[in-house]
Amino acid sequence: MAAKETKQTYSPGLAGVIAGETEICWVDPNAGLAYRGYDIHKMAEEASFEEVAHLLLKGELPDAEQLSKFTREIAAARSVPKQVLDALRLIPKDAHPMDMLRTGVSMLGPFDPELDDHSHAANIRKAIRLIAKVSTLITDGYRIAHNEDPLPERENLTLAGNFFYKVRGEVPQDWQIRMMDTIFVLYADHEFNASTFAARVTASTLADIYAAVTSACGTLKGPLHGGANEQSMRMLDEIKTPDRAEAWLKDKLSQKAKIMGFGHRIYKKGDSRVPIMREIGRDLGKRTGKENWIPICEKLEQTMEHEKHLCANVDLYAAPVFTMLGFDPALNTPIFAAARVAGWCAHVVEQHDHNRLIRPTSLYTGPAIRPYTGVSKNGKTQP
Ligand SMILES: CC(C)(COP(=O)(O)OP(=O)(O)OC[C@H]1O[C@@H](n2cnc3c(N)ncnc32)[C@H](O)[C@@H]1OP(=O)(O)O)[C@@H](O)C(=O)NCCC(=O)NCCS
Repeated sequence: MAAKETKQTYSPGLAGVIAGETEICWVDPNAGLAYRGYDIHKMAEEASFEEVAHLLLKGELPDAEQLSKFTREIAAARSVPKQVLDALRLIPKDAHPMDMLRTGVSMLGPFDPELDDHSHAANIRKAIRLIAKVSTLITDGYRIAHNEDPLPERENLTLAGNFFYKVRGEVPQDWQIRMMDTIFVLYADHEFNASTFAARVTASTLADIYAAVTSACGTLKGPLHGGANEQSMRMLDEIKTPDRAEAWLKDKLSQKAKIMGFGHRIYKKGDSRVPIMREIGRDLGKRTGKENWIPICEKLEQTMEHEKHLCANVDLYAAPVFTMLGFDPALNTPIFAAARVAGWCAHVVEQHDHNRLIRPTSLYTGPAIRPYTGVSKNGKTQP
């Protein structure tokens, strides 16, 4: 009896395809986001990044004692092997910080004594080390690229506060630490986004967590994903003032250009993280006297809604927020990575715990089967 033919469906870019199950994060298309059932908004206001990383990795919010232990574990794991820092010194000084980060993460793997142990407990321990060391690779790599010595860790600062200190060289004030934590919490996870999916695909071959996070770093760099927050800042710099935003955008749209910081595969009614990031931007505008950036973004938002019914994503507002916090735009995507590594690791742990190889199928569109007509015979070229 002939096998029943099943109708195959094809969705370009895997749009709408359910590619796996997760308990870690829910992106609600109606502008909502929850980490393991907790709405992002309250956590963005109050939680430290460490608290959220604990939730993502271990499944529950920590109590006070667990949080203090977890925070200490991350702080104690921040240093990276000297050989890795020496290798970063060999990278051309004008390399993108995301390339430095990807190389650094890849090199960290063989230094981890538990590299090939994919048990749940070992993966959690490695995740803690990775969360700590990814920040260090970014901050120290940035200083090395600028011919400066990395600064010593400040163990009394939170991971996000320490990140600020090690790049900016000044101890952040309490409000700056709070902002950094909010930003890190907002970026910590977003279910099956491209970089997380890349991490899961790599982990599904039973490759190790460092290999998976290396894949994720490579994937995050692209401007359709994490790279958008750097490109958004370049766009705002080009627009310069709010009164130029509408004409600038209409001109770009008439050229069919992709506008960075707009559109999203899942959110069609707004990105849940935008209102919080916009508020931080307004606050920073007042504190720094740089009150042009957020009105430019708002004008772009209104015009985009009118012209294309497309909503802004978090990267539009993250760009001026990072600039007003004093970061070089080249660090915009690495800041995203410093937070998202918590999500990447949680997803690798979940993938290894319930693994099945991720291997989709393709729709072949090439020539029909045809006879070989090449010039070689038994490996030798015929005259
Ligand atoms: C995020 C992104 C890759 C999603 O892609 P997608 O799901 O394939 O996009 P959609 O299918 O929803 O696109 C629908 C339409 O809107 C257009 N569109 C989507 N995002 C756009 C943007 N940022 N600028 C201009 N047009 C855009 C598409 O070209 C498409 O137009 P068409 O129907 O005339 O071909 C896309 O919106 C994009 O490139 N955004 C800019 C990069 C960015 O900000 N990335 C960060 C995401 S958090």
